Amino acid sequence: MCGIVGYIGNQQAAPILLDGLGKLEYRGYDSAGIAVYDGNEINMVKSQGRLKVLNELTHDGETLKGTLGIGHTRWATHGIPSDANAHPHFNKDKSIVVVHNGIIENYLKLKKKLLAHGYEFMSETDTEVIAHLLDYYYKGNPLQAITKIMHRMEGSYALGIIFKDHPNELYAVRKDSPLIVGKTDGGNIIASDVPAVLRYTRDVYFIENEEIVKMTETSMEFYNVDEEIIEKDSTHIEWDVNAAEKGGYEHFMLKEMYEQPKAITDTFSPRLKDGKIVIEELGMSDEDILAIKKIMIVACGSAYHTGMTSKYVFEGLARIPVEVDLASEFRYRDPIIEEGTLLIVVSQSGETADTLAALREAKAKGARVLGIVNVVGSSIAREADNVMYTWAGPEIAVATTKAYSAQLIALYLLAMKFAHVRGKLDDENLASMIEELKEIPTQVEMLLNNKNKIQKFANRYLAARDIFFIGRGVDYAISLEGSLKLKEISYIHSEAYAAGELKHGTISLIEEGTLVAAVLTQEDLYKKMISNMVEVKTRGAFVMAVTNVDNTEVERAADYVVYIPKTNKYFTNSLAIIPLQLFGYYVSVGKGCDVDKPRNLAKSVTVE
Ligand code: F6R
Repeated sequence: MCGIVGYIGNQQAAPILLDGLGKLEYRGYDSAGIAVYDGNEINMVKSQGRLKVLNELTHDGETLKGTLGIGHTRWATHGIPSDANAHPHFNKDKSIVVVHNGIIENYLKLKKKLLAHGYEFMSETDTEVIAHLLDYYYKGNPLQAITKIMHRMEGSYALGIIFKDHPNELYAVRKDSPLIVGKTDGGNIIASDVPAVLRYTRDVYFIENEEIVKMTETSMEFYNVDEEIIEKDSTHIEWDVNAAEKGGYEHFMLKEMYEQPKAITDTFSPRLKDGKIVIEELGMSDEDILAIKKIMIVACGSAYHTGMTSKYVFEGLARIPVEVDLASEFRYRDPIIEEGTLLIVVSQSGETADTLAALREAKAKGARVLGIVNVVGSSIAREADNVMYTWAGPEIAVATTKAYSAQLIALYLLAMKFAHVRGKLDDENLASMIEELKEIPTQVEMLLNNKNKIQKFANRYLAARDIFFIGRGVDYAISLEGSLKLKEISYIHSEAYAAGELKHGTISLIEEGTLVAAVLTQEDLYKKMISNMVEVKTRGAFVMAVTNVDNTEVERAADYVVYIPKTNKYFTNSLAIIPLQLFGYYVSVGKGCDVDKPRNLAKSVTVE
């Protein structure tokens, strides 16, 4: 996810671009840049770091004069955050400049072709390919060059483009990345999202896939890929800027929960090829995978919980022993790392100090380290031997949701791949698991749409003192995450227990009316779980169950049941977490807590 803006009109462009980028920083913030055409030259300033660096460099836009410009705030995908990889990107003689939100999947193939034609590249980005490709096809007609590249590019894009020999025109085009345009007083504006334009207009055009916009100061024309003019209607936006940033959702956390189907799809789809799992970035041959004797997973908080889940998946599917450690503990226990150990560190931010220190400790002891990381170019991504990125996009809410879901998917893919290479999962079973994996985004969406029911239930527990979560096997791992989600944003004391452990102490905490959330998605453990639920129910607990759709037997031991759709037994965490996230969220909302920024917490914990 990145943010793009563009302006053409009778005002200075730079301050408008910077203001727009400020409203889009939630879409990415590792680097930013603007290019403004002064009538003679297209001048560009771009830099790694947050937008404030760009504001300083340009004296809030004062140093770049001109009334036509484009801007970008970046969330790195191809190429680490750096000045060179920041957008905009020029063609070779700086006569075409481009900003891009999206991913060009076939950029390596296109780059090869362009290199063969003598083009030189200044960055590692897929976007620079677009600038050179435009140059390659440009014969004086911008529209023609744009439609030509649309036929060549695979993937997603929203582009803002300026051609030096068309000084009074701004172009934009999209496929599978958002783009809106609006008419302002004295000009026209483009942006990735509504908040960037609200200060200037409330009437916007939503650009659809493969539509192109050509703008001058006073006109706006829409074209299809055949260069034919098309008519579009504008939409009036009622949201205020704050609501618009969150896409109309009340909080970033809710918005991000709703982004989970996309985060999940984006994480698995580039790694599924012809019915097989291909993880190019793993840097491991089949022989390397066969040589793994042990996996150690190290992480903090929710990322640690994904490690806990995947222990069951790796061991069950691939029959590789797994140890899961809290990063803050791993480091100080003088861990034994033998030959054949693969160390996996999991981190959304890639900057968590404990996880980074654990990675360094493991590397010093000779471990091969694979990072599962969301932020491209972060410290963990740079220091790990190999990185498998989760494609969740920027996560703003402190309580993780979509990055957690994407981490689970990355770990499932690894476990399935390892199991297949090691002969524990045959082609047929792998194919059917892949089909089940592909169903998850739709199933998550279905569960999210159940939110009103969960909200009603959550409202009954706003005054609760303690809430317990219980489960066995992978359901114990999900209980840990459900409990963390609730307590970190609602400030209600909560603990998660392996259900079999209750009778060894915790059960004495159960009182009349105490809520116990029981997760039971593993068929072979249903009976045991039901016994544990009855144990707490007879001591006065109110039991909420999260279970599979056909397990109606649970109703005899539960007071309230949430059913999840049928999926592979190793994937149930991806579904069971949704009602638990919603529960935590609505308790927090009901109590009036600061959902997105809970007290005492930070999004990225860079101290030990
Ligand atoms: C909880 C949460 C934290 C993080 C933990 C690790 O909702 O977000 O527990 O999971 O601080 O952070 P990363 O994944 O950035 O290393």
